[in-house]
Amino acid sequence: MRVLVTGGAGFIGSQFVRRLALQGERVVVLDKLTYAGNRANLEGVDHEFFEGDIADPAAVAQAADGVDAIVNFAAETHVDRSIMGPAEFILTDVLGTQVLLDHARHHGIRHLQVSTDEVYGDIDLDAAPCTEDAPLRPSSPYSASKSGGDQQVLAYVRTYGTDALITRGANTYGPRQYPEKFLPLFITNAFDGERLPVYGDGRQRREWLHVEDHCAAIEVALRNGGTGEVYNVGGQERENMDVVRRILDLTGASPDLVRHVADRPGHDRRYSVDSTKLRDLGWTPGRSFDTGGLEETVEWYREHREWWEPIKSGDYKRYYAQQYAARLG
Ligand code: NAD
Ligand code: DAU
Repeated sequence: MRVLVTGGAGFIGSQFVRRLALQGERVVVLDKLTYAGNRANLEGVDHEFFEGDIADPAAVAQAADGVDAIVNFAAETHVDRSIMGPAEFILTDVLGTQVLLDHARHHGIRHLQVSTDEVYGDIDLDAAPCTEDAPLRPSSPYSASKSGGDQQVLAYVRTYGTDALITRGANTYGPRQYPEKFLPLFITNAFDGERLPVYGDGRQRREWLHVEDHCAAIEVALRNGGTGEVYNVGGQERENMDVVRRILDLTGASPDLVRHVADRPGHDRRYSVDSTKLRDLGWTPGRSFDTGGLEETVEWYREHREWWEPIKSGDYKRYYAQQYAARLG
């Protein structure tokens, strides 16, 4: 199989490229190399690389030439950045998805859309996990743009008969995650003795999904999933403050670094999804967040300063100041 992986230089996409390449599949990557894209993530991995924008039909036509399937990871992905400026999110996550779908439609190939549990919005503490038919109630410009991408996928299936499907994954963690996201931000700050900015009361709940389990799920859906189907990919639910305490334990950092700061506007309290449908298709997650998963991740960041130290300079510093300076005082 020859597969186009868009966003393959990012956190989850690069792990997916590695996974397919190790199985001997031929992988083509199309990536715009935004601040989150990093060629170093693909070092030593057999693949063909095109730098370009998924919203550019010519770039897509070139990269997708002769592929059997497209797996779309390319997106603007950070909720806080979407609050600062939503436009880029709509261009990539909605328009870019539509350009890829057009290619899949005209070439009769499969399109797998990598989406998120955030499209369901938050749910009450005592609510049952969302199944795939739950209504979409996105809260942030990020999740609204991802919902827009999902709706395009479903519209292409119904209107044109395009062979497309969707996975909706939970909060993913593991090596090579850009350190703007909660876990790598807190782990690397803890190593450096920097403050740990907890939004609001820190009682929000997320499901934590190891990046390898997430990639295994996407592969199962790609190979065995049905056209027009949606598959949730859940993880292990934990309260943010519990995760912070574990990070302090594992890094040996002082609890004095923890600061409760102004909350994220529109902050979702809880996500929880039911993954029965994907398990029935053959997905068996192998990682436990508490026994091994988080600890190995902390060790990876401890041993790979050469990966994250260059990232946490330059543009990142400007972003960090904009996002946290007023909050941290
Ligand atoms: P990331 O931010 O680490 O990487 C995104 C990649 O997409 C980068 O390499 C970037 O350069 C590329 N990109 C951005 N805009 C592009 C464009 N217009 N054209 C081509 N490439 C472009 O993201 P991630 O965390 O690896 O997430 C990958 C996908 O998985 C996204 O679609 C995201 O919505 C989804 N997802 C992420 C999580 C999570 O917790 N990280 C959970 C569920 C779903
Ligand atoms: O649920 C899947 C989604 O998970 C993906 O679709 C997104 O791409 C990914 O960014 C992630 O979204 P979240 O908003 O849940 O992740 P984030 O890492 O930004 O935040 C996780 C939790 O930690 C959330 O409750 C906000 C909180 N947080 C985050 C940051 C960056 C803090 O308390 N302080 C922080 O500085």
